[in-house]
Amino acid sequence: MVDWRIILGEPAVSTRPADIVYMDHAATTPVAPEVIDAMRPFFEDQFGNASSIYSLGQTSRRAIDDARGRCAKVLGARAGEIVFTSGGTESDNAALMGAALALRERGNHIVTTAIEHHAVLHAAELLASLGFDVTYVAPGREGIVTVEAIEAAVTPSTTVVSVMLANNETGAIQPVAEIARAVKARAASEKRIIAVHTDAVQAAGFLDLNVGELGVDLLSLSAHKFNGPKGVGLLYIRRGTPFRPTQVGGAQEHDRRAGTENTPAIVGMGLALENADRRRLEAAATCQALSNRLIAGITERVERASLNGDPERRLPNNVNFTFAGVEAEPLLMGLDLAGIAASSGSACTAASIEPSHVLLAMGHSDLEARSTLRLTVGPENTEDEVDYVVDTVAVLIPKLRKLASPSRR
Ligand SMILES: Cc1ncc(COP(=O)(O)O)c(C=O)c1O
Repeated sequence: MVDWRIILGEPAVSTRPADIVYMDHAATTPVAPEVIDAMRPFFEDQFGNASSIYSLGQTSRRAIDDARGRCAKVLGARAGEIVFTSGGTESDNAALMGAALALRERGNHIVTTAIEHHAVLHAAELLASLGFDVTYVAPGREGIVTVEAIEAAVTPSTTVVSVMLANNETGAIQPVAEIARAVKARAASEKRIIAVHTDAVQAAGFLDLNVGELGVDLLSLSAHKFNGPKGVGLLYIRRGTPFRPTQVGGAQEHDRRAGTENTPAIVGMGLALENADRRRLEAAATCQALSNRLIAGITERVERASLNGDPERRLPNNVNFTFAGVEAEPLLMGLDLAGIAASSGSACTAASIEPSHVLLAMGHSDLEARSTLRLTVGPENTEDEVDYVVDTVAVLIPKLRKLASPSRR
C-alpha cells in the first residue's frame, strides 16, 4: 500500500485551531457531559437488573421507564410503542425482518431505496435469500427518491416500505411523510396492510421526528448520533403494527426484544434525545451557517469541486463534495495528517474505500463515487475550524491531482 504520509507531508496551511478538528458528526458525536453524569450511577451503585423484583432492580426499571417516556414524548408516541435496541443497525434489521416476517402470509414484497444504509440493504438481502422479493427504488441525480417512484414500485404483494428520512452520505432529505401518506392511502383503499418504516438515524437532532406527522409505523434511531452513548438505539413500533421479534429469549421490552436492558445506555439516550430535540432549531441554524461557509469556501478555492446531493433539501450539517481526479483515501489521510477528522461517507474496507453505493445510485461514475469527501459539522465547530479545513483542502487537492495518474486527473 502507498504510504501517503511520506508523499503528502504536512500541508502548509494556517494554524490549526484545535488538536483535532472533528468534522465527522454523521459517523458519531461526542457524548455530552450531562449524559455521562446521568449514566454514571447505573454503572456504579445502581447496577440492578431491571427484571429483578427487589428494590435495586426496580430502581433500574424506573430509570428505563423514565427514559422510555422521554423518548416517546420527542416522537409524539406512546411509551409502549418504544422498544430499546442496541443501535441503529439492530433497529433497522428488526423493523424490516419483524414486519416482513409478521406479514408473510399476506405478501412477500418489500420496497426500499438504493440509497439506504447497509443496515437496511443487508436486512433486505437477507430477506431476499429467504424468498422475499425486494425492489430498490433509485433516487434522482440529487439523491432524493420521489413519491411517484415509490408508489410505482408498490405491488399487490407489498407488505413493507422502508425509506430513510435523511441520507447519511449526502444528507438528502427524503419525502417520507408524503410517501407514508400515499402508501397508507393505497393500502387502505385495497383493505390491506403495508408497514412503513423510516431510518431516522441521521435526522435526529435536526428534523422533526413526530411519528404522527411522518405517518410511519416503524422508526429507527441511534443514540450515538445525537450526543448519546454508542450501542443503544430504539425502534418505534406503532401500536397494532404486525411485528415478529427476531431477537428472542426473555420477555423484555414487552416480548419484542429479548435481552437484559442496558440501563446506563438507555438512561443516556433518553436524556440525549430530549436535549437534541430541545436544541434542534438552534443546532440546525448554527450548523447551516458553518456548512454554508464550508461550501462557499471550497467552491471558491478548489477547481472542479462539485457538491453532491440536493443543495437545499439536505441536513444542515452535511457537506459532500466530489473532487474530480482525487480519490478519497489519500485525501482523508492528508486531512488526518493536518488533524482533521472527515470521511468519504462510503464504506471502508481494510485495503481501500469502496465506491459509494449512494453516489452510484445517483448516477455518478465509479471513479466519481470513489472521489467524495463528506464533512459533517456539529454545533461545537467554529468558523476558525471551517476556515482551516477550507485552507487545508485547497492545498491538498492540487497536490493530489499532481500525484494522480494522468488518466485520473
Ligand atoms: C442512516 C443510518 N442508519 C443506520 C446506521 C447504523 O447505526 P448504528 O451505528 O447505531 O448501528 C447508521 C450509522 O451510521 C446510519 O447512518
